[in-house]
Amino acid sequence: MPSWPDNSKYLSQKTVRVDAPEKVTGRARYASDIQANGWLYGMILRSKWPAAKISEINLDKALQVPGIKAAVKARDGEFNVRFYGEELAAVAGITKQACLDALRVIEVKATPREGFVVNENEALKPDSPQVWEGSPNAPVPRVRHTGDVDQAFTECAAVIEGFYSTPVQIHHPMETHGNTISWTDDGVTAWASTQGVSSARDGLAGALQLDQSQVRVITDFMGGGFGSKLGGGVEGVLAARLSREAKAPVRLMLTRFDNALAVGNRPSSFQKIKIGATADGKLHAFELENYGTAGIGAGADQGGGGGGADIPAPYIYPVPNTRVKQTAVAVNAGSSRAFRAPSHPPASYGMESAMDDLAAKLGMDPLEFRLINDSNPVRQREYKIGAEKFGWKEKYQKPGISPGVVKTGIGCAGANWPAGGPNRRTQGEAQINPDGGIEFRLGVQDIGTGTKTVIAVVAAEMLGLKPEQITVKVGDTNFPPGPASGGSTTCASISPTVYDICEKALQQLQAQSGIADARGENWPAACKKLGVTPLVVHGNWIEGLSNRPAYGVQFAEVAVDTETGLVTLKKVVAVHDCGLIVDKLTTESQINGGIIMGMGYALYEERVMDDLSGVVLNPNFETYKLSGIADVPEIEIILLNMPERGVIGIGEPATVPTAAAIGNAVFNAIGARVGSLPITPAKVLAALGKVPPFVKT
Ligand code: MOS
Repeated sequence: MPSWPDNSKYLSQKTVRVDAPEKVTGRARYASDIQANGWLYGMILRSKWPAAKISEINLDKALQVPGIKAAVKARDGEFNVRFYGEELAAVAGITKQACLDALRVIEVKATPREGFVVNENEALKPDSPQVWEGSPNAPVPRVRHTGDVDQAFTECAAVIEGFYSTPVQIHHPMETHGNTISWTDDGVTAWASTQGVSSARDGLAGALQLDQSQVRVITDFMGGGFGSKLGGGVEGVLAARLSREAKAPVRLMLTRFDNALAVGNRPSSFQKIKIGATADGKLHAFELENYGTAGIGAGADQGGGGGGADIPAPYIYPVPNTRVKQTAVAVNAGSSRAFRAPSHPPASYGMESAMDDLAAKLGMDPLEFRLINDSNPVRQREYKIGAEKFGWKEKYQKPGISPGVVKTGIGCAGANWPAGGPNRRTQGEAQINPDGGIEFRLGVQDIGTGTKTVIAVVAAEMLGLKPEQITVKVGDTNFPPGPASGGSTTCASISPTVYDICEKALQQLQAQSGIADARGENWPAACKKLGVTPLVVHGNWIEGLSNRPAYGVQFAEVAVDTETGLVTLKKVVAVHDCGLIVDKLTTESQINGGIIMGMGYALYEERVMDDLSGVVLNPNFETYKLSGIADVPEIEIILLNMPERGVIGIGEPATVPTAAAIGNAVFNAIGARVGSLPITPAKVLAALGKVPPFVKT
């Protein structure tokens, strides 16, 4: 059985990203930086109707706009649109202005439907307009149960009922979705902003009815996706068709507005929770009724699916008697997609809020209540380590007793991420040159998480070289196939693969050169013996070096101004495990990112829909609030290194418990529950029984 080396020079240490110079100097080329010969701008016309029958689209006038080289319809014949922002047509032209002019003169014959609905609670009403004609907006709920819940509640010493809700969250990666695409007789080349060069290739080939070998996807650098960039995308298919027609490459990047409308989101949740414990503090009965919206449906626009509205429940804690009832409500809005730890942050927020509400009723410290009920030994360790670092004992006061106008509070919550394990079909190769240079080629991609650095670190460790001696090439379907970067699987997929490549490289190099150990200082001499022909070694993912799942706990400290309602996040202590830590810096950076994203979910982010027009009312960064630099608290990260477990992904678990921990800290500060994310000043004041001056009563 292979195993990771014990006394490692680079593994679990801090290696600065190998591509940092390219990024900070602006040399890194993203999909929208590609200067393909003679490229054109591409733009998409989107529906201004939230629900309509489209009977005709006429592109003639658009094609007469000076500078316009191509125009295509999103679909032929009659079809229905079901949300504001659904794709109707696209144009390609030599300037942005030409494209804008062309979009304006496309003639669309549309018959708006009688009604539409963008609000979950409206959509649930029996007389609501149907998003999908002939089927109810909310199908019959799925029900699961264990034990005898009704009986069990009568046996509890304390029971609480709470209502906890989370909003639709938009992915909003810094780089919007899009591609530069060239379709010639030789096939399609797409410089794509994607989380999966292979999955994007397959998506494009399928939609364009081409052989997969005729489509090449290249992603040198990529600015985030969080689950929303796993497919070829409607925008990719349209760009390819425009390129075919214009006989020129087309750069079609979505606008920020497009990103808010049409390329995925995290479903909302409305969770009615009843939970009870026996006198010794053991959870005994749990009941959840939950609904949420995934827009027209999870992945219903075929741009990369996943991310349904159901949540895992009861989250994390075993409860002997449970009843869980869930349904997804369709509304006239863009479909959901997988979003960083799909379904876990809302599940965590509901359950962990209910846990603290129940602990308060029992008169227990919520951390102790967790230690009694959490059966996971890793989290037990993490809670103890984190509590110590955070100073939980010294800081803890009963809810609402913090004095003064600005009250402080603390809270905690736990995470579980069942994925994070490997894609077992991952492959890669290395070319070793006689001059001692070595280049790794893997058909994986670095979506901003540090994949290139992880490859360099593992290779340097195995070969006794320095990370900067390793050339890393990823993000190209011409390389041996790699995994899509979803489910926190990338690190656990590529690390064992690079290990295997290195083992084979050493074996072959040693055999060919006659040098017994080709590592480290012997490397140049061994390579020299290759003569004039480089050595190319192929490797596969191998068993025994990676694993799943990951856990983690977080502690948050907040200050709540009871006059303005403003919540300030002061500090987060995060204790996480991910098996063997490959590179400490990239691991910490995933956790920082997860916490900052979770903080946005807790305090700022929420898609707001307009009931009258069906449009997203806050489609840009002025109005859709993401955490800014000034909001970011002191973050202290404690990593549990468990090399014996092998490599596990960390991207998703890191964002799971943050919002719940913050919500609990706010409850602890003010002694009242804000049961609805985001925790805005108005909601804080309302929870305190104060009506903000700008709210009409
Ligand atoms: Mo992630 S939501 O699995 O890309």
